[in-house]
Amino acid sequence: MSHLLPLSRVARLVGQSRHTLQEMIRAGTLATFDGMVELDELLRAFPEVKWDDDAEFRRVSEIKDKAFAKRVRELALPDKDVLTARLNELGNEYAAAKALLLHYGNVMTWLDEKIDEIEEDASAETHHALHSVRAFLLRNIHEMPAAAEQAQRIIAQERILKIMSAHVTIQPSGHEFFVESNDTLLQAALRNGVSLNYGCSNGNCGDCKARLVSGSVKKVHAHDYVLKQAEKDAGVILLCAYAPVNDVVVEANVAGARDIPVQQLVAKVKSVEIFNPQMAALHILAPRSQRLRFLGGQSVQLGIDGVQGRYAIASCPCEDRHIEVQIPRNDGDAFAARLFDGLKNNDSVSVEGPYGEFVLDEDSPRPVIFLAFGAGFAPIKSLIQHAMSLEIAESMDLHWLADAAGHYQDNLCRAWTDALDNFNYAPHPHTADTAAQVQALVNDYPDLPRFDVYASGTASQLAQARAVFVNAGLHEARWFAGELAG
Ligand code: FES
Repeated sequence: MSHLLPLSRVARLVGQSRHTLQEMIRAGTLATFDGMVELDELLRAFPEVKWDDDAEFRRVSEIKDKAFAKRVRELALPDKDVLTARLNELGNEYAAAKALLLHYGNVMTWLDEKIDEIEEDASAETHHALHSVRAFLLRNIHEMPAAAEQAQRIIAQERILKIMSAHVTIQPSGHEFFVESNDTLLQAALRNGVSLNYGCSNGNCGDCKARLVSGSVKKVHAHDYVLKQAEKDAGVILLCAYAPVNDVVVEANVAGARDIPVQQLVAKVKSVEIFNPQMAALHILAPRSQRLRFLGGQSVQLGIDGVQGRYAIASCPCEDRHIEVQIPRNDGDAFAARLFDGLKNNDSVSVEGPYGEFVLDEDSPRPVIFLAFGAGFAPIKSLIQHAMSLEIAESMDLHWLADAAGHYQDNLCRAWTDALDNFNYAPHPHTADTAAQVQALVNDYPDLPRFDVYASGTASQLAQARAVFVNAGLHEARWFAGELAG
C-alpha cells in the first residue's frame, strides 16, 4: 500500500526548502505523483538523512526564524478540541492498522496449517518446495528489512508533524501552508503571507467565508455571523473561526492589491530604530481588534500630532500586528523630523492605507532580481520577506545601490544569504553614475529574459535602470517599479 506525502511535509521531514525539492523534481532526481512523494521514493532520494535525528531540521528552522527576525512563532500546542480530534484520528488509523495486522496474522496461521496439510501427502519435491516457502515466510516475518525500519521512523516523525500541524492547500491559487499551534486557518494563512479575504477577524462580518473542499475542520472560536444552512451544506466555513483537524483543501479568494480596501486605524509606537543620522525605522503595533491588511511593497500614510507622511512599509504582511516603516531624514519632512527628535513607546500613530500596487506577482515562479536604490530598500525588504514566506521565487538576487545612508541593514541581508539557499545579496557603493552601475550588474545576467525585476527608488533612478534592463533583454512586462515619494 503506497504512503504519499505532500511536498511541503517532505521538505520539513528532510530539512530542505521546497525550492530545493522543486529543483530536484525538475532535474528528475525526485519523482512525484500529483504533487505528492511516495515513501519509498523519499527513502531513495534522501539515503543520507538520519530519520531519528531532526537536529539539522531544527538548525535550519532556527536560522530562518532569525532571518525573518520578527516573525511570531508560538510554540504552543493546537487548540484542545483540534488536538483531541487529531489524536482520535491517529487512534483510528492505529486501530485500523492493528486490525489489518491481526487479519494478516490469521492468514499466516491458516497458511501454515494448510502447508502442514499438504505436506502430509506431498511428494519429496513438493515437500521441499513447501519447506522453502515456509522458511521464506518465517524469515521475512521475523527480520524486518532495513528499508522498512527507516520507513517506520519517517512515518513516526510524519505522525508527530501531523499532530502538531495540518497542511492546507488553497484553491484555485495553489498556495500551501501549515497551520500550527492554536492558529485558525486565517491566522496561519496571514502568518504565511497568503492574503486571504477577511474583515473583522473575529467572526462578525462573514468576509472570510470559504469552502472546505476536502479534509475536516473544527470550530475553535465562537462566531456571531450566522452561516445559512445551504452554506453549511455546501461546506462553507469562516476562516477566522475554524482550524483544520487534518490536511485540508480550501476554496478561497486570495486578494490582490486592488481587492484590499483602504483602512484607518490607530497604532502604538513599539520602538524607534535609528540606523544612522539619515535613516530610521518606526515599529508600530496595530490593535488586536484591527490589524492592517496589506501586501508586501505597499505604503501607508502615517500621522502624529498633526504631522503626516506617506512611507513604504518595510515589514512582511506575515508579521501579524507588527508594522515597520523606514523613514529617511529629508528636509521638509515634518513627520521624519518628529521621528528623529524622538517618539515615545506607546505614542499613538494614525495609519491609513494600504496604497500602491508595487506588489509581488504571486503567480510567477520566475527567478527574481530585487533592485533597491537607497531608501528603496524598505519596500524591497517587505517584498523579499513576503516572497520568502510564500516560497514562490525560484531564486532571489538583491542588489542594494546605496545612497548617503549606506547599507543600513547590511547584517540582515547577510543573514538572509546564510539562511536561504536561493538568496544572493550584492551591496553596491554610492555613486553618481546610476546608469553605469546598473549596466555593470546587468552584465552578469546573460539570461535576463528569464527574470522578474522589482525595483524601488526615485523616478529618475527607476527610469534609468528600466532602460538598461529592457535594453539588455528584460521583458517590459516583467519590470515592476515602486517609486519613492519625495
Ligand atoms: S473575518 Fe469577519 S467573520 Fe471572519
